[in-house]
Amino acid sequence: MRVYELIHRKREGGALGAGEIAALVAGFTAGEIPDAQVAALCMAIFFKGMTGAEVDALTAAMLRSGDVLDLSALPGAKVDKHSTGGVGDKTSLPLAALAAACGVRVPMVSGRGLGHTGGTLDKLEAIPGFRVDLPVERFVAQVGRLGVALIGQTARIAPADRRLYALRDVTATVESIPLIASSIMSKKLAEGIDALVLDVKVGRGAFMKTRAGARELAAALIGIGRGFGKRVTALLTAMDQPLGLAVGNALEVVEAIELLRGGGPADLRELTVELTAEMLLLAGVAAELPEARAAVAAAIADGRGLARFREIVIAQEGDPRAIDDPSRLPRAPRVIPVPAPAAGVVEAVDAEAIGLAAMALGAGRARVEDRIDPAVGVVLRRKVGERVEAGEPLCDVHRGDAGEPQDAIAARLAAAWRIGPGPVAAPPLVLERMAGP
Ligand code: URA
Repeated sequence: MRVYELIHRKREGGALGAGEIAALVAGFTAGEIPDAQVAALCMAIFFKGMTGAEVDALTAAMLRSGDVLDLSALPGAKVDKHSTGGVGDKTSLPLAALAAACGVRVPMVSGRGLGHTGGTLDKLEAIPGFRVDLPVERFVAQVGRLGVALIGQTARIAPADRRLYALRDVTATVESIPLIASSIMSKKLAEGIDALVLDVKVGRGAFMKTRAGARELAAALIGIGRGFGKRVTALLTAMDQPLGLAVGNALEVVEAIELLRGGGPADLRELTVELTAEMLLLAGVAAELPEARAAVAAAIADGRGLARFREIVIAQEGDPRAIDDPSRLPRAPRVIPVPAPAAGVVEAVDAEAIGLAAMALGAGRARVEDRIDPAVGVVLRRKVGERVEAGEPLCDVHRGDAGEPQDAIAARLAAAWRIGPGPVAAPPLVLERMAGP
């Protein structure tokens, strides 16, 4: 195989064969094909795209580069959820517990946060002692016993994707739908799932800024799932303002627990119920969406979701007292309100700006090796459609001495709220549903 010829063919808009893609991925993972050639190929793919067959071949090659969990010995459908990443999105925590409490098996393998959106692992690790590095055998046993376990991606899951993603990250080739779709699905398929629910975020705080782009990504992800015999449902959901009120790891755990106690912000609850209900449908636990939603709501109302979350925490060596008494979670020493500069109605809250402010406080990481502070973050006090008087708080900053100075953080945050005469209706959250065959 001459890699040069493959790059040239893709550059001219031609297609690569499955065997060629498999050899490319194997050669790159083994360090036999130089980064420069793979970077050039990624750039050619960025401009020329890939056929469905090419995307399937790339996904299969990256999947095969590592281990694929075998959960076939466990009865029942194994279903996971994947979000393309949003600010304040802590749905995975309550959703995993609720889906399991309703009879779905949830083998959840998550990532750490990078950039302005947080990662599920970072949130879970805000619970003192919580381990996300369970050995695979223990992970599988826990999915069998509790119906759910949440771990981090191991080095043995899709190593080719890890290498390729790092190269794309420094060559401006991340934002390519075939490359994103194969990257996401190679990792999800390695979990040994039967079906997958996708939360494809759209808006200023999301990877996909437009509805058309999100729809295209969702279609690519559903198409790959179909090629691998997995059922995939995607919800396109708004990510213009943060989800819920809390942005920051321990703060988001508190909000997730509030939801499981029957409280929490309405938008977080709506999205958690919708996504979990889709999991119940895919697992065959419910036949219709209204029935599935009612089952999830019942698991919140009667405390089964919270009880299952506590069991997960105990099984993964976290301190369950932090679930009953969230004051045991890491807490920032100072809580400083950011006042509204003028009276009016909130017309927009820029999720990306809030995510970046939380990152500047130490809640997120700019580089993989950065350490995060689980206690810090931002809690919104006003969201779109709500009225605020001048001087009333728009949000609270939870912080310590590290991170960007408070003046700079307050200025960033105040600029994230657009206040006008109103009235403004609260925007819709679930924009569209796309389901595979
Ligand atoms: N998330 C991934 O896992 N891969 C991508 O390529 C982009 C986002």
